[in-house]
Amino acid sequence: MMSETAAYDPLLRWIHWATAALFIAAMLIGLYCGLQPPGTSPRRELLELHKSLGITLLVLAILRVMVRARTIAPPEPRSFGPMVRLASRLNHWALYLILFAMPVTGYMFSSAGGYSLKYFGTFSWPRLFAGDKAIAHNGEIAHDTLAYLVYVAVGLHIAATLWHALVLKDETLARMWPAAGRSKPQP
Ligand code: HEM
Ligand code: HEM
Repeated sequence: MMSETAAYDPLLRWIHWATAALFIAAMLIGLYCGLQPPGTSPRRELLELHKSLGITLLVLAILRVMVRARTIAPPEPRSFGPMVRLASRLNHWALYLILFAMPVTGYMFSSAGGYSLKYFGTFSWPRLFAGDKAIAHNGEIAHDTLAYLVYVAVGLHIAATLWHALVLKDETLARMWPAAGRSKPQP
């Protein structure tokens, strides 16, 4: 009998791909804005979009951890050796860290620094650290420093997926693909 590929929970898979699309957009906009002088257009307008995407990503990250905690992740493919297992786990932990740390540090910077916190041009998020210069400064340093971890971790994550899908041709991508597989561990 042909064995089906063990896959992540279907809701987790959808959250993963929604996150991937929004995250890559937020990352590229942030990268572009970081290279433009403050106060100029279109940096100002793009940063509004960047922040709204960032807060949306925080909501998705919270939802994702809740789904992840109450579902069973498939065991790593049997073809993964100990080094590949370790690299994959470290990469996933780094991505989970980033998914929370980037929105939180961005919010610290914008909220304490007195910058706009409008959500897609509608309401404004509450300003929890208003006027606290140390929080604004630390938030900015942490956000800009963690951006390097973002580029490395996301770059390696996508490169590894392409390697598994196109060169090794194993089941790694199918485990996360929305339409494929079943959400049960391998027998
Ligand atoms: C997952 C969510 C987020 C990601 C991946 C992300 C990523 C980035 C990146 C890569 C940069 C460029 C850093 C640089 O080169 O200086 C950046 C800049 C920035 N981000 Fe975010 N960010 C996120 C969420 C947020 C949030 C929620 C806010 C605010 C509420 C925010 C506010 C900013 C600001 C103001 C800048 C410009 C910083 C500067 O020019 O020094 N970000 N972000
Ligand atoms: C085009 C972009 C992306 C592709 C092709 C991709 C592909 C994949 C694949 C195939 C897996 C399953 C790996 C396995 O089971 O061993 C996975 C897992 C994962 N991905 Fe992505 N991904 C992308 C973007 C992202 C982004 C932007 C993030 C977050 C910043 C992310 C976070 C994660 C995490 C945390 C896991 C582990 C899932 C878990 O254990 O809950 N991915 N990704």
